[in-house]
Amino acid sequence: MINDLNWRYATKKFDYSKKVSKQDLEDLLEVLRLSPSSFGLQPWKFIVVKNEALRQEIRKNSWDQPQVTDASDLIVLCSLKTMDRDVVKKFINTIAETWKVSPESLAGYEQKMLGSIKAKSPEEISNWMKRQVYIALGMLLSACAQKKIDACPMEGFIPKKVDEILGLEAQGLESVVMCPIGYRASDDSYAVLKKVRLDKSKVLIER
Ligand SMILES: Cc1cc2nc3c(=O)[nH]c(=O)nc-3n(C[C@H](O)[C@H](O)[C@H](O)COP(=O)(O)O)c2cc1C
Repeated sequence: MINDLNWRYATKKFDYSKKVSKQDLEDLLEVLRLSPSSFGLQPWKFIVVKNEALRQEIRKNSWDQPQVTDASDLIVLCSLKTMDRDVVKKFINTIAETWKVSPESLAGYEQKMLGSIKAKSPEEISNWMKRQVYIALGMLLSACAQKKIDACPMEGFIPKKVDEILGLEAQGLESVVMCPIGYRASDDSYAVLKKVRLDKSKVLIER
């Protein structure tokens, strides 16, 4: 595991000719779907941008970072724009169907979720949902490393523009972070750089 994490790096230059297999991509999307979230609410959607023209447009709004167009696949991780009673109700119904119990038997859980949401301002709710998306990103990066698939987490884009390009507003979504995946170019100079990490003594505390 540690070897995999030392192997991975935020890939700057992808080999355009190398594509992630259909099965690997399916596995990675399943990793996203299986990611944990607060209350299990899964306030997200993950968009695989297949259309080349859209990827070009996104690149223009991502400080021209080549990963956007040159990686095998581009995944845009999005959060819901709002979390309301309706989303919670639908989720309660999903649990009820999955566990084969009545939605009424989950009323306590439903109230707990609604109470927690009501206690937050719209901005706090938005930030809270985005944090869930970053958990999914972390899971994705680890899974990529395990599979020896390269990836680059990316916040270097203009979310509002990407939302427009992908028509996210109409779907009640907003872009949070992107992750191109694929295979490193043999001449990506970043691949050979030693990892820069703070010393254990600086980040680990025992009490
Ligand atoms: C949330 C997030 C956003 C990032 N955005 C970008 C980005 O837009 N472009 C880029 O080249 N790298 C981006 N990075 C990569 C970081 O710079 C990189 O992960 C960090 O320097 C550690 O290096 P390593 O991932 O190669 O170990 C981002 C990383 C994270 C976690």
